[in-house]
Parts: sequence; structure tokens; C-alpha cells
Amino acid sequence: MDNFDLRGGVLHAEDVALPAIADAVGTPVYVYSTATLERHVRVFRDAIAGLGNGDPLVAFAVKANPNRAVLATLARAGMGADVVSGGELYRALHAGMRPADVVFSGVGKTADEMAQGLSAGIGQFNIESEPELDMLSAVASAMGKVAQIAIRVNPDVIAGTHAKISTGGKENKFGIGYDAAPAAYAHAASLPGLKVRGVAVHIGSQLTDLAPLEAAFGRVGALIATLRGQGHAITHADLGGGLGVPYEPGKPLPPTPADYGAMVARATAGWDTRLMFEPGRLIVANAGILLSRVIRVKQGASAPFVIVDAAMNDLLRPSLYDAWHDIRAVAPTGETVPANIVGPVCETGDTFALGRAMDVVAADDLVAFMTAGAYGATMASTYNSRALVPEVLVSGDAFAVVRERPPIEALADADRLPPWL
Ligand code: LLP
Repeated sequence: MDNFDLRGGVLHAEDVALPAIADAVGTPVYVYSTATLERHVRVFRDAIAGLGNGDPLVAFAVKANPNRAVLATLARAGMGADVVSGGELYRALHAGMRPADVVFSGVGKTADEMAQGLSAGIGQFNIESEPELDMLSAVASAMGKVAQIAIRVNPDVIAGTHAKISTGGKENKFGIGYDAAPAAYAHAASLPGLKVRGVAVHIGSQLTDLAPLEAAFGRVGALIATLRGQGHAITHADLGGGLGVPYEPGKPLPPTPADYGAMVARATAGWDTRLMFEPGRLIVANAGILLSRVIRVKQGASAPFVIVDAAMNDLLRPSLYDAWHDIRAVAPTGETVPANIVGPVCETGDTFALGRAMDVVAADDLVAFMTAGAYGATMASTYNSRALVPEVLVSGDAFAVVRERPPIEALADADRLPPWL
């Protein structure tokens, strides 16, 4: 569910007509709904309420949408943060996420990033290899601190999602192999700068079937029992993110948060741990759209090309993962036609949809790419020397620019000429 609806024939974000945002800020522009963000946090929290020991920690996967205003909205709604870089850590802390509610994930944390996390007093590092255990212990000891850790295990479960966002197979770079985990825990327990507290798992993103998640959690449960048998105090279990969202109208819906919660209740019964979650897409995807204007319509061999002013540099998912985003006219006439929707970037991969039955649009009309709040603006680039796409947050009848569109001169003028030119 989202808060982007037709009112009087015009698509609105909450109480704001999208043409008003296009007029004020220009296009392309991402538009987020506060009400949808808050609703998604509530729905997810309700789905997992009462599970595990104490209040579950819901740590938003910042990579999905690191805009400070979005993070601040989520922080106010009680979310922590799952971060994977010093930059994300900085953003989460500056948006008001409590350090104790921050988890630091990722296979390539540097010593500097570890030190940043330790200085901030974050709640947990999720460790993905034995050399990383050694490095974190050394960094923490040098600072006179002890890092609380979980080890991310690779459960060797195939998530059944796009290969580029599948992480839980034994050939993937993520986590410590399931069979190697007990030895890694023994190693961690021997290191002075570490306090072992948990087990973490994350098998992939945009999962539309709960079975692989349940299989992975089953393996985590067995591992917790083994580790306790070996004397480790496992008090936390981090179940990662990954629950998919509906992108394509008319396709079977992915499991709901309530379905997910019921599965987690089953899978974690008797674990006697605090549960932690790292949802990203589920919280922000349907809370955002990319608003774009049609530049012109060009005749094609079999269908017209609708050339819009958003491109692959603004929304990379269709080019990178063949992802499907619903594309709607902001003021639909009710008539549809098969069309190819493309951006201005000079490569054929800059294609959002081919032969798509889509609202009839003409030059200067506005279109909205739906379900673009996750992995949208954050993956944008300036390819083709296009300005970085701005972002707007709506709340009720108010809207604010929460990231400016930088002048293109700022990008070009950041280049320097060497002395010989
Ligand atoms: N935790 C960890 C350790 C992760 O690596 C991720 C996502 C998440 C949580 C959040 O997963 P989510 O709940 O959002 O599925 N750019 C891709 C998605 C990459 C996901 C990377 N990791 C896309 O646009 O589909």
C-alpha cells in the first residue's frame, strides 16, 4: 500500500499534486511519502511484535535509501540502522539513529571504518571472515574498547532471486561458511577486543518466497544450539532483510510482513535470543516514485519510443537487473498503447520498458516510475554528465526538497587540469 493516488484525474503524493512538485523542482526528481514510510515501519513492527527476547531491533538497511530526511523519518519511527560503510554510518548517526541500534555489516570494512563504529559506540559488528575478526579485535584493543559482534554465517541456501542480489549460496562472497562457523566463533572468543553476542544471516533481496528464509533460519537455530553447547553466550540473532515487495500489478503478491512474522515466530521458537532485522526495500520501495517528464515521442519500428528525461543514471534497476517498474502517466486519459520507454543516455541499455502497455502520453506530459524509493536515488550517478537527481519528501500537503539538484557546472568544475595542459 502507498500514498500515491489519483485525485481529480491527477496523481498525488499524499495531498500534493505531482505537477506542483515538477513545476517547483523540475524533473527528473524522486518523491517520497512520509505517511507510507511510517506505515511500513508500523506494519513491519506489528508483524514481529512480541517475538524473541525484549523488543526486536529493526535496523533499516541504509543502502536502500540513505537520504538524511528519510533516515530521520525512520529514526523518529523508532528504527535503528544497518550500515555498510563509514559514509552510511555518518548518515545514520546524523539522522538521529541511536548508536546502540546501529549494526555494521559488509565484507570489506576497513580499519578506519571499524574505528569510526567503535568511537560512535555502535551496537554490533556483523563479521564476515576470520581476518576481519583479527582486524576488528586489533583496532578495538588499540582504542581500549571491546566490539560486540555477531558472525554472519553463509547458510548455503539459494534464495531464488536475481543472481546479482542473491547472497546466501556457498559460492557467494558473503558470510563465513556454515561448517566453518564453530571454529570462527572459537577464534573470536579467544580475541581480547571482541565480545561475541550473536549470529547473523542475510540470504538475498527481493525474496518472494519464504521457504529459503525459513530454511536459512532453521540452520541458524541449529548453529545457536551448537555454539551454546561450546560455551558461547548467544544473546542476539540478526535475521537480515530481503522480503520482496510487489513491483508489477497483476503478478502474485509476495508474502506479507504478517506472513513473514508468522514464519519467523515458527522458525525462532525457543531460541531465547533478542531478534534483529535489517529490512530495506520493504520499508522504502513503495514510499517513493521517480517523477519524469516526456521529452518527445519518436516513432519506432514496432512501437513508439517514449523518451523521458529520467535515464539509467537516475534509476539503474531496469538496466542492471532487468527490473520491472510500473510507469504511469501522472494525468492518464484512460487510453493505453504499447510503447518503449527510454531515457536520453546514449546506450541501448538505457531502456525502462519495451513494448509495455502504457498510458498514452505526449511531449511535456509527466510520468511516474512507481516503487522507486528503494535502490533508486542511492544508485544514481552522473553518467553522460547529467546532474545528480534531486529528492523531495512529502508530508500531508507539504513538501520539501531533501536533496538539491546540483548545478551541472559544479560537477564539471570539480575536474582539475594537470600542470601540462
Ligand atoms: N542486510 C544486508 C546485509 C544486506 O546486504 C541487504 C541488502 C539488506 C539487509 C537489505 O535487504 P532488503 O531488505 O532491501 O532486501 N540494489 C539491489 C538490491 C541490493 C541489496 C543488497 N543488500 C536492487 O536494486 O534490487
